[in-house]
Amino acid sequence: MNPQTSATLVRGSILHFLADPGENDDADAWQFFEDGALLLEHGRVIRVGAWKEIITALPTLTKQTARTFDYSGKLVMPGLIDTHVHYPQMQVMGSFGRQLLDWLEHYTFPAEATFADRGIAKKTSAFFLDRLLAHGTTTASVFATVHPHSVEAFFEAAQSRNLRMLCGKVMMDRHCPENLRDTPASALHDSRKLIERWHGKGRLRYSVTPRFAPTSTPEQLQVAGELFNGYPDMHLQSHLSENRREIEWVGELFPGHRNYVDVYDHFKLLGRGAIYGHGIHLDASERTRLAETGTAIAFCPSSNLFLGSGFFHYDAAHAAGVPVGLATDVGGGTSLSMLRTMASAYTVGQAQHKPLSAMRAWYLATLGGAQALALDNFIGNFKPGKEADFAVFDFNATPELDWRMRHASSIEEKLFALITLGDERCVSATHILGERVTPA
Ligand code: GUN
Ligand code: ZN
Repeated sequence: MNPQTSATLVRGSILHFLADPGENDDADAWQFFEDGALLLEHGRVIRVGAWKEIITALPTLTKQTARTFDYSGKLVMPGLIDTHVHYPQMQVMGSFGRQLLDWLEHYTFPAEATFADRGIAKKTSAFFLDRLLAHGTTTASVFATVHPHSVEAFFEAAQSRNLRMLCGKVMMDRHCPENLRDTPASALHDSRKLIERWHGKGRLRYSVTPRFAPTSTPEQLQVAGELFNGYPDMHLQSHLSENRREIEWVGELFPGHRNYVDVYDHFKLLGRGAIYGHGIHLDASERTRLAETGTAIAFCPSSNLFLGSGFFHYDAAHAAGVPVGLATDVGGGTSLSMLRTMASAYTVGQAQHKPLSAMRAWYLATLGGAQALALDNFIGNFKPGKEADFAVFDFNATPELDWRMRHASSIEEKLFALITLGDERCVSATHILGERVTPA
């Protein structure tokens, strides 16, 4: 094939991040091209820049033969990244009035038990992934259930959509219903089989998934450590310091440890590629240890508010050097929308008199998420060679947004209004490896 004929051009207002813009919204951290172009080939980024410059530099034949998507006036961003979400909990999103431990017992465990039926896992995977794409989310770190086939179903659905996804079988061998319990030996065996089948297959990666310290025996956490450290580029996902009662319980179950982070540290569950949901009630020494080991936190603002868990201290985590991504944490979270998640993150910051800037929020939802998941070699921005997953946002998608945008001048102002007033209605299109997947 003549490579010049396989080029794709995307025109629109293009924004991507090269680094964390920090507290002062450092303008060197991003590139914005109001009339911009993305040049793609074989699903990867070749160049990003001003439309005029890129067009002028293109060979005539490429110009004539390139496929073009014209999104002029709309915002083209790298695909959004949800760093912590439970696909089997779609059916309990928005369940009333409980805090974490009661919520798990009354809503979550019964929902997850229904995944003993492989057909439910299959149907839910397809629905979940199609809805993620409709929300402009192209990568996620996803909890399945304890059933190995819940991971099989998820990876099959992700593979058929060509998605870069992380997923893992939940490991839990105590303090949960009998029908959701595995053992250290079965978790080792089942996780190994899944890793060998799926880890590194196409765009898929496995994430070792001990639910959280209270639902695993020390023997099982030992197994999780062996799995996490036993394979190259392995990922790990779990929960940490979300709820006061949970933290007290961890203290009772694991006496002799300095704190919650120390429990995971003891079992060698920290390191680059490991990400923990929540991390709300950490002390300074715990943050330091996470930072030293390159362990990330998934900031789940809508879930933290909905379950009454507390406010995540983003500034403290950042100051300590802990990598942070943003996450919906559905079904504790109330929406798959990363726009609404950014709005909640802003609100949580405001309540602490430290509002999150629009630029920082968009950084966290793209490159920051990729860094937190150790996937930034592949995704997160439009640097040449990166995989061309992107979403297109309509600044004028609703009458309210349209009205508001007439009074917004800077890109920062527009991006902030988009976060605050927007949701999936603002997602005009989502592309995976350059191909438009939604609308179909
Ligand atoms: N801690 C342990 N399991 C869960 C879960 O499924 N959701 C949340 N939000 N926290 C947890
Ligand atoms: Zn969670």
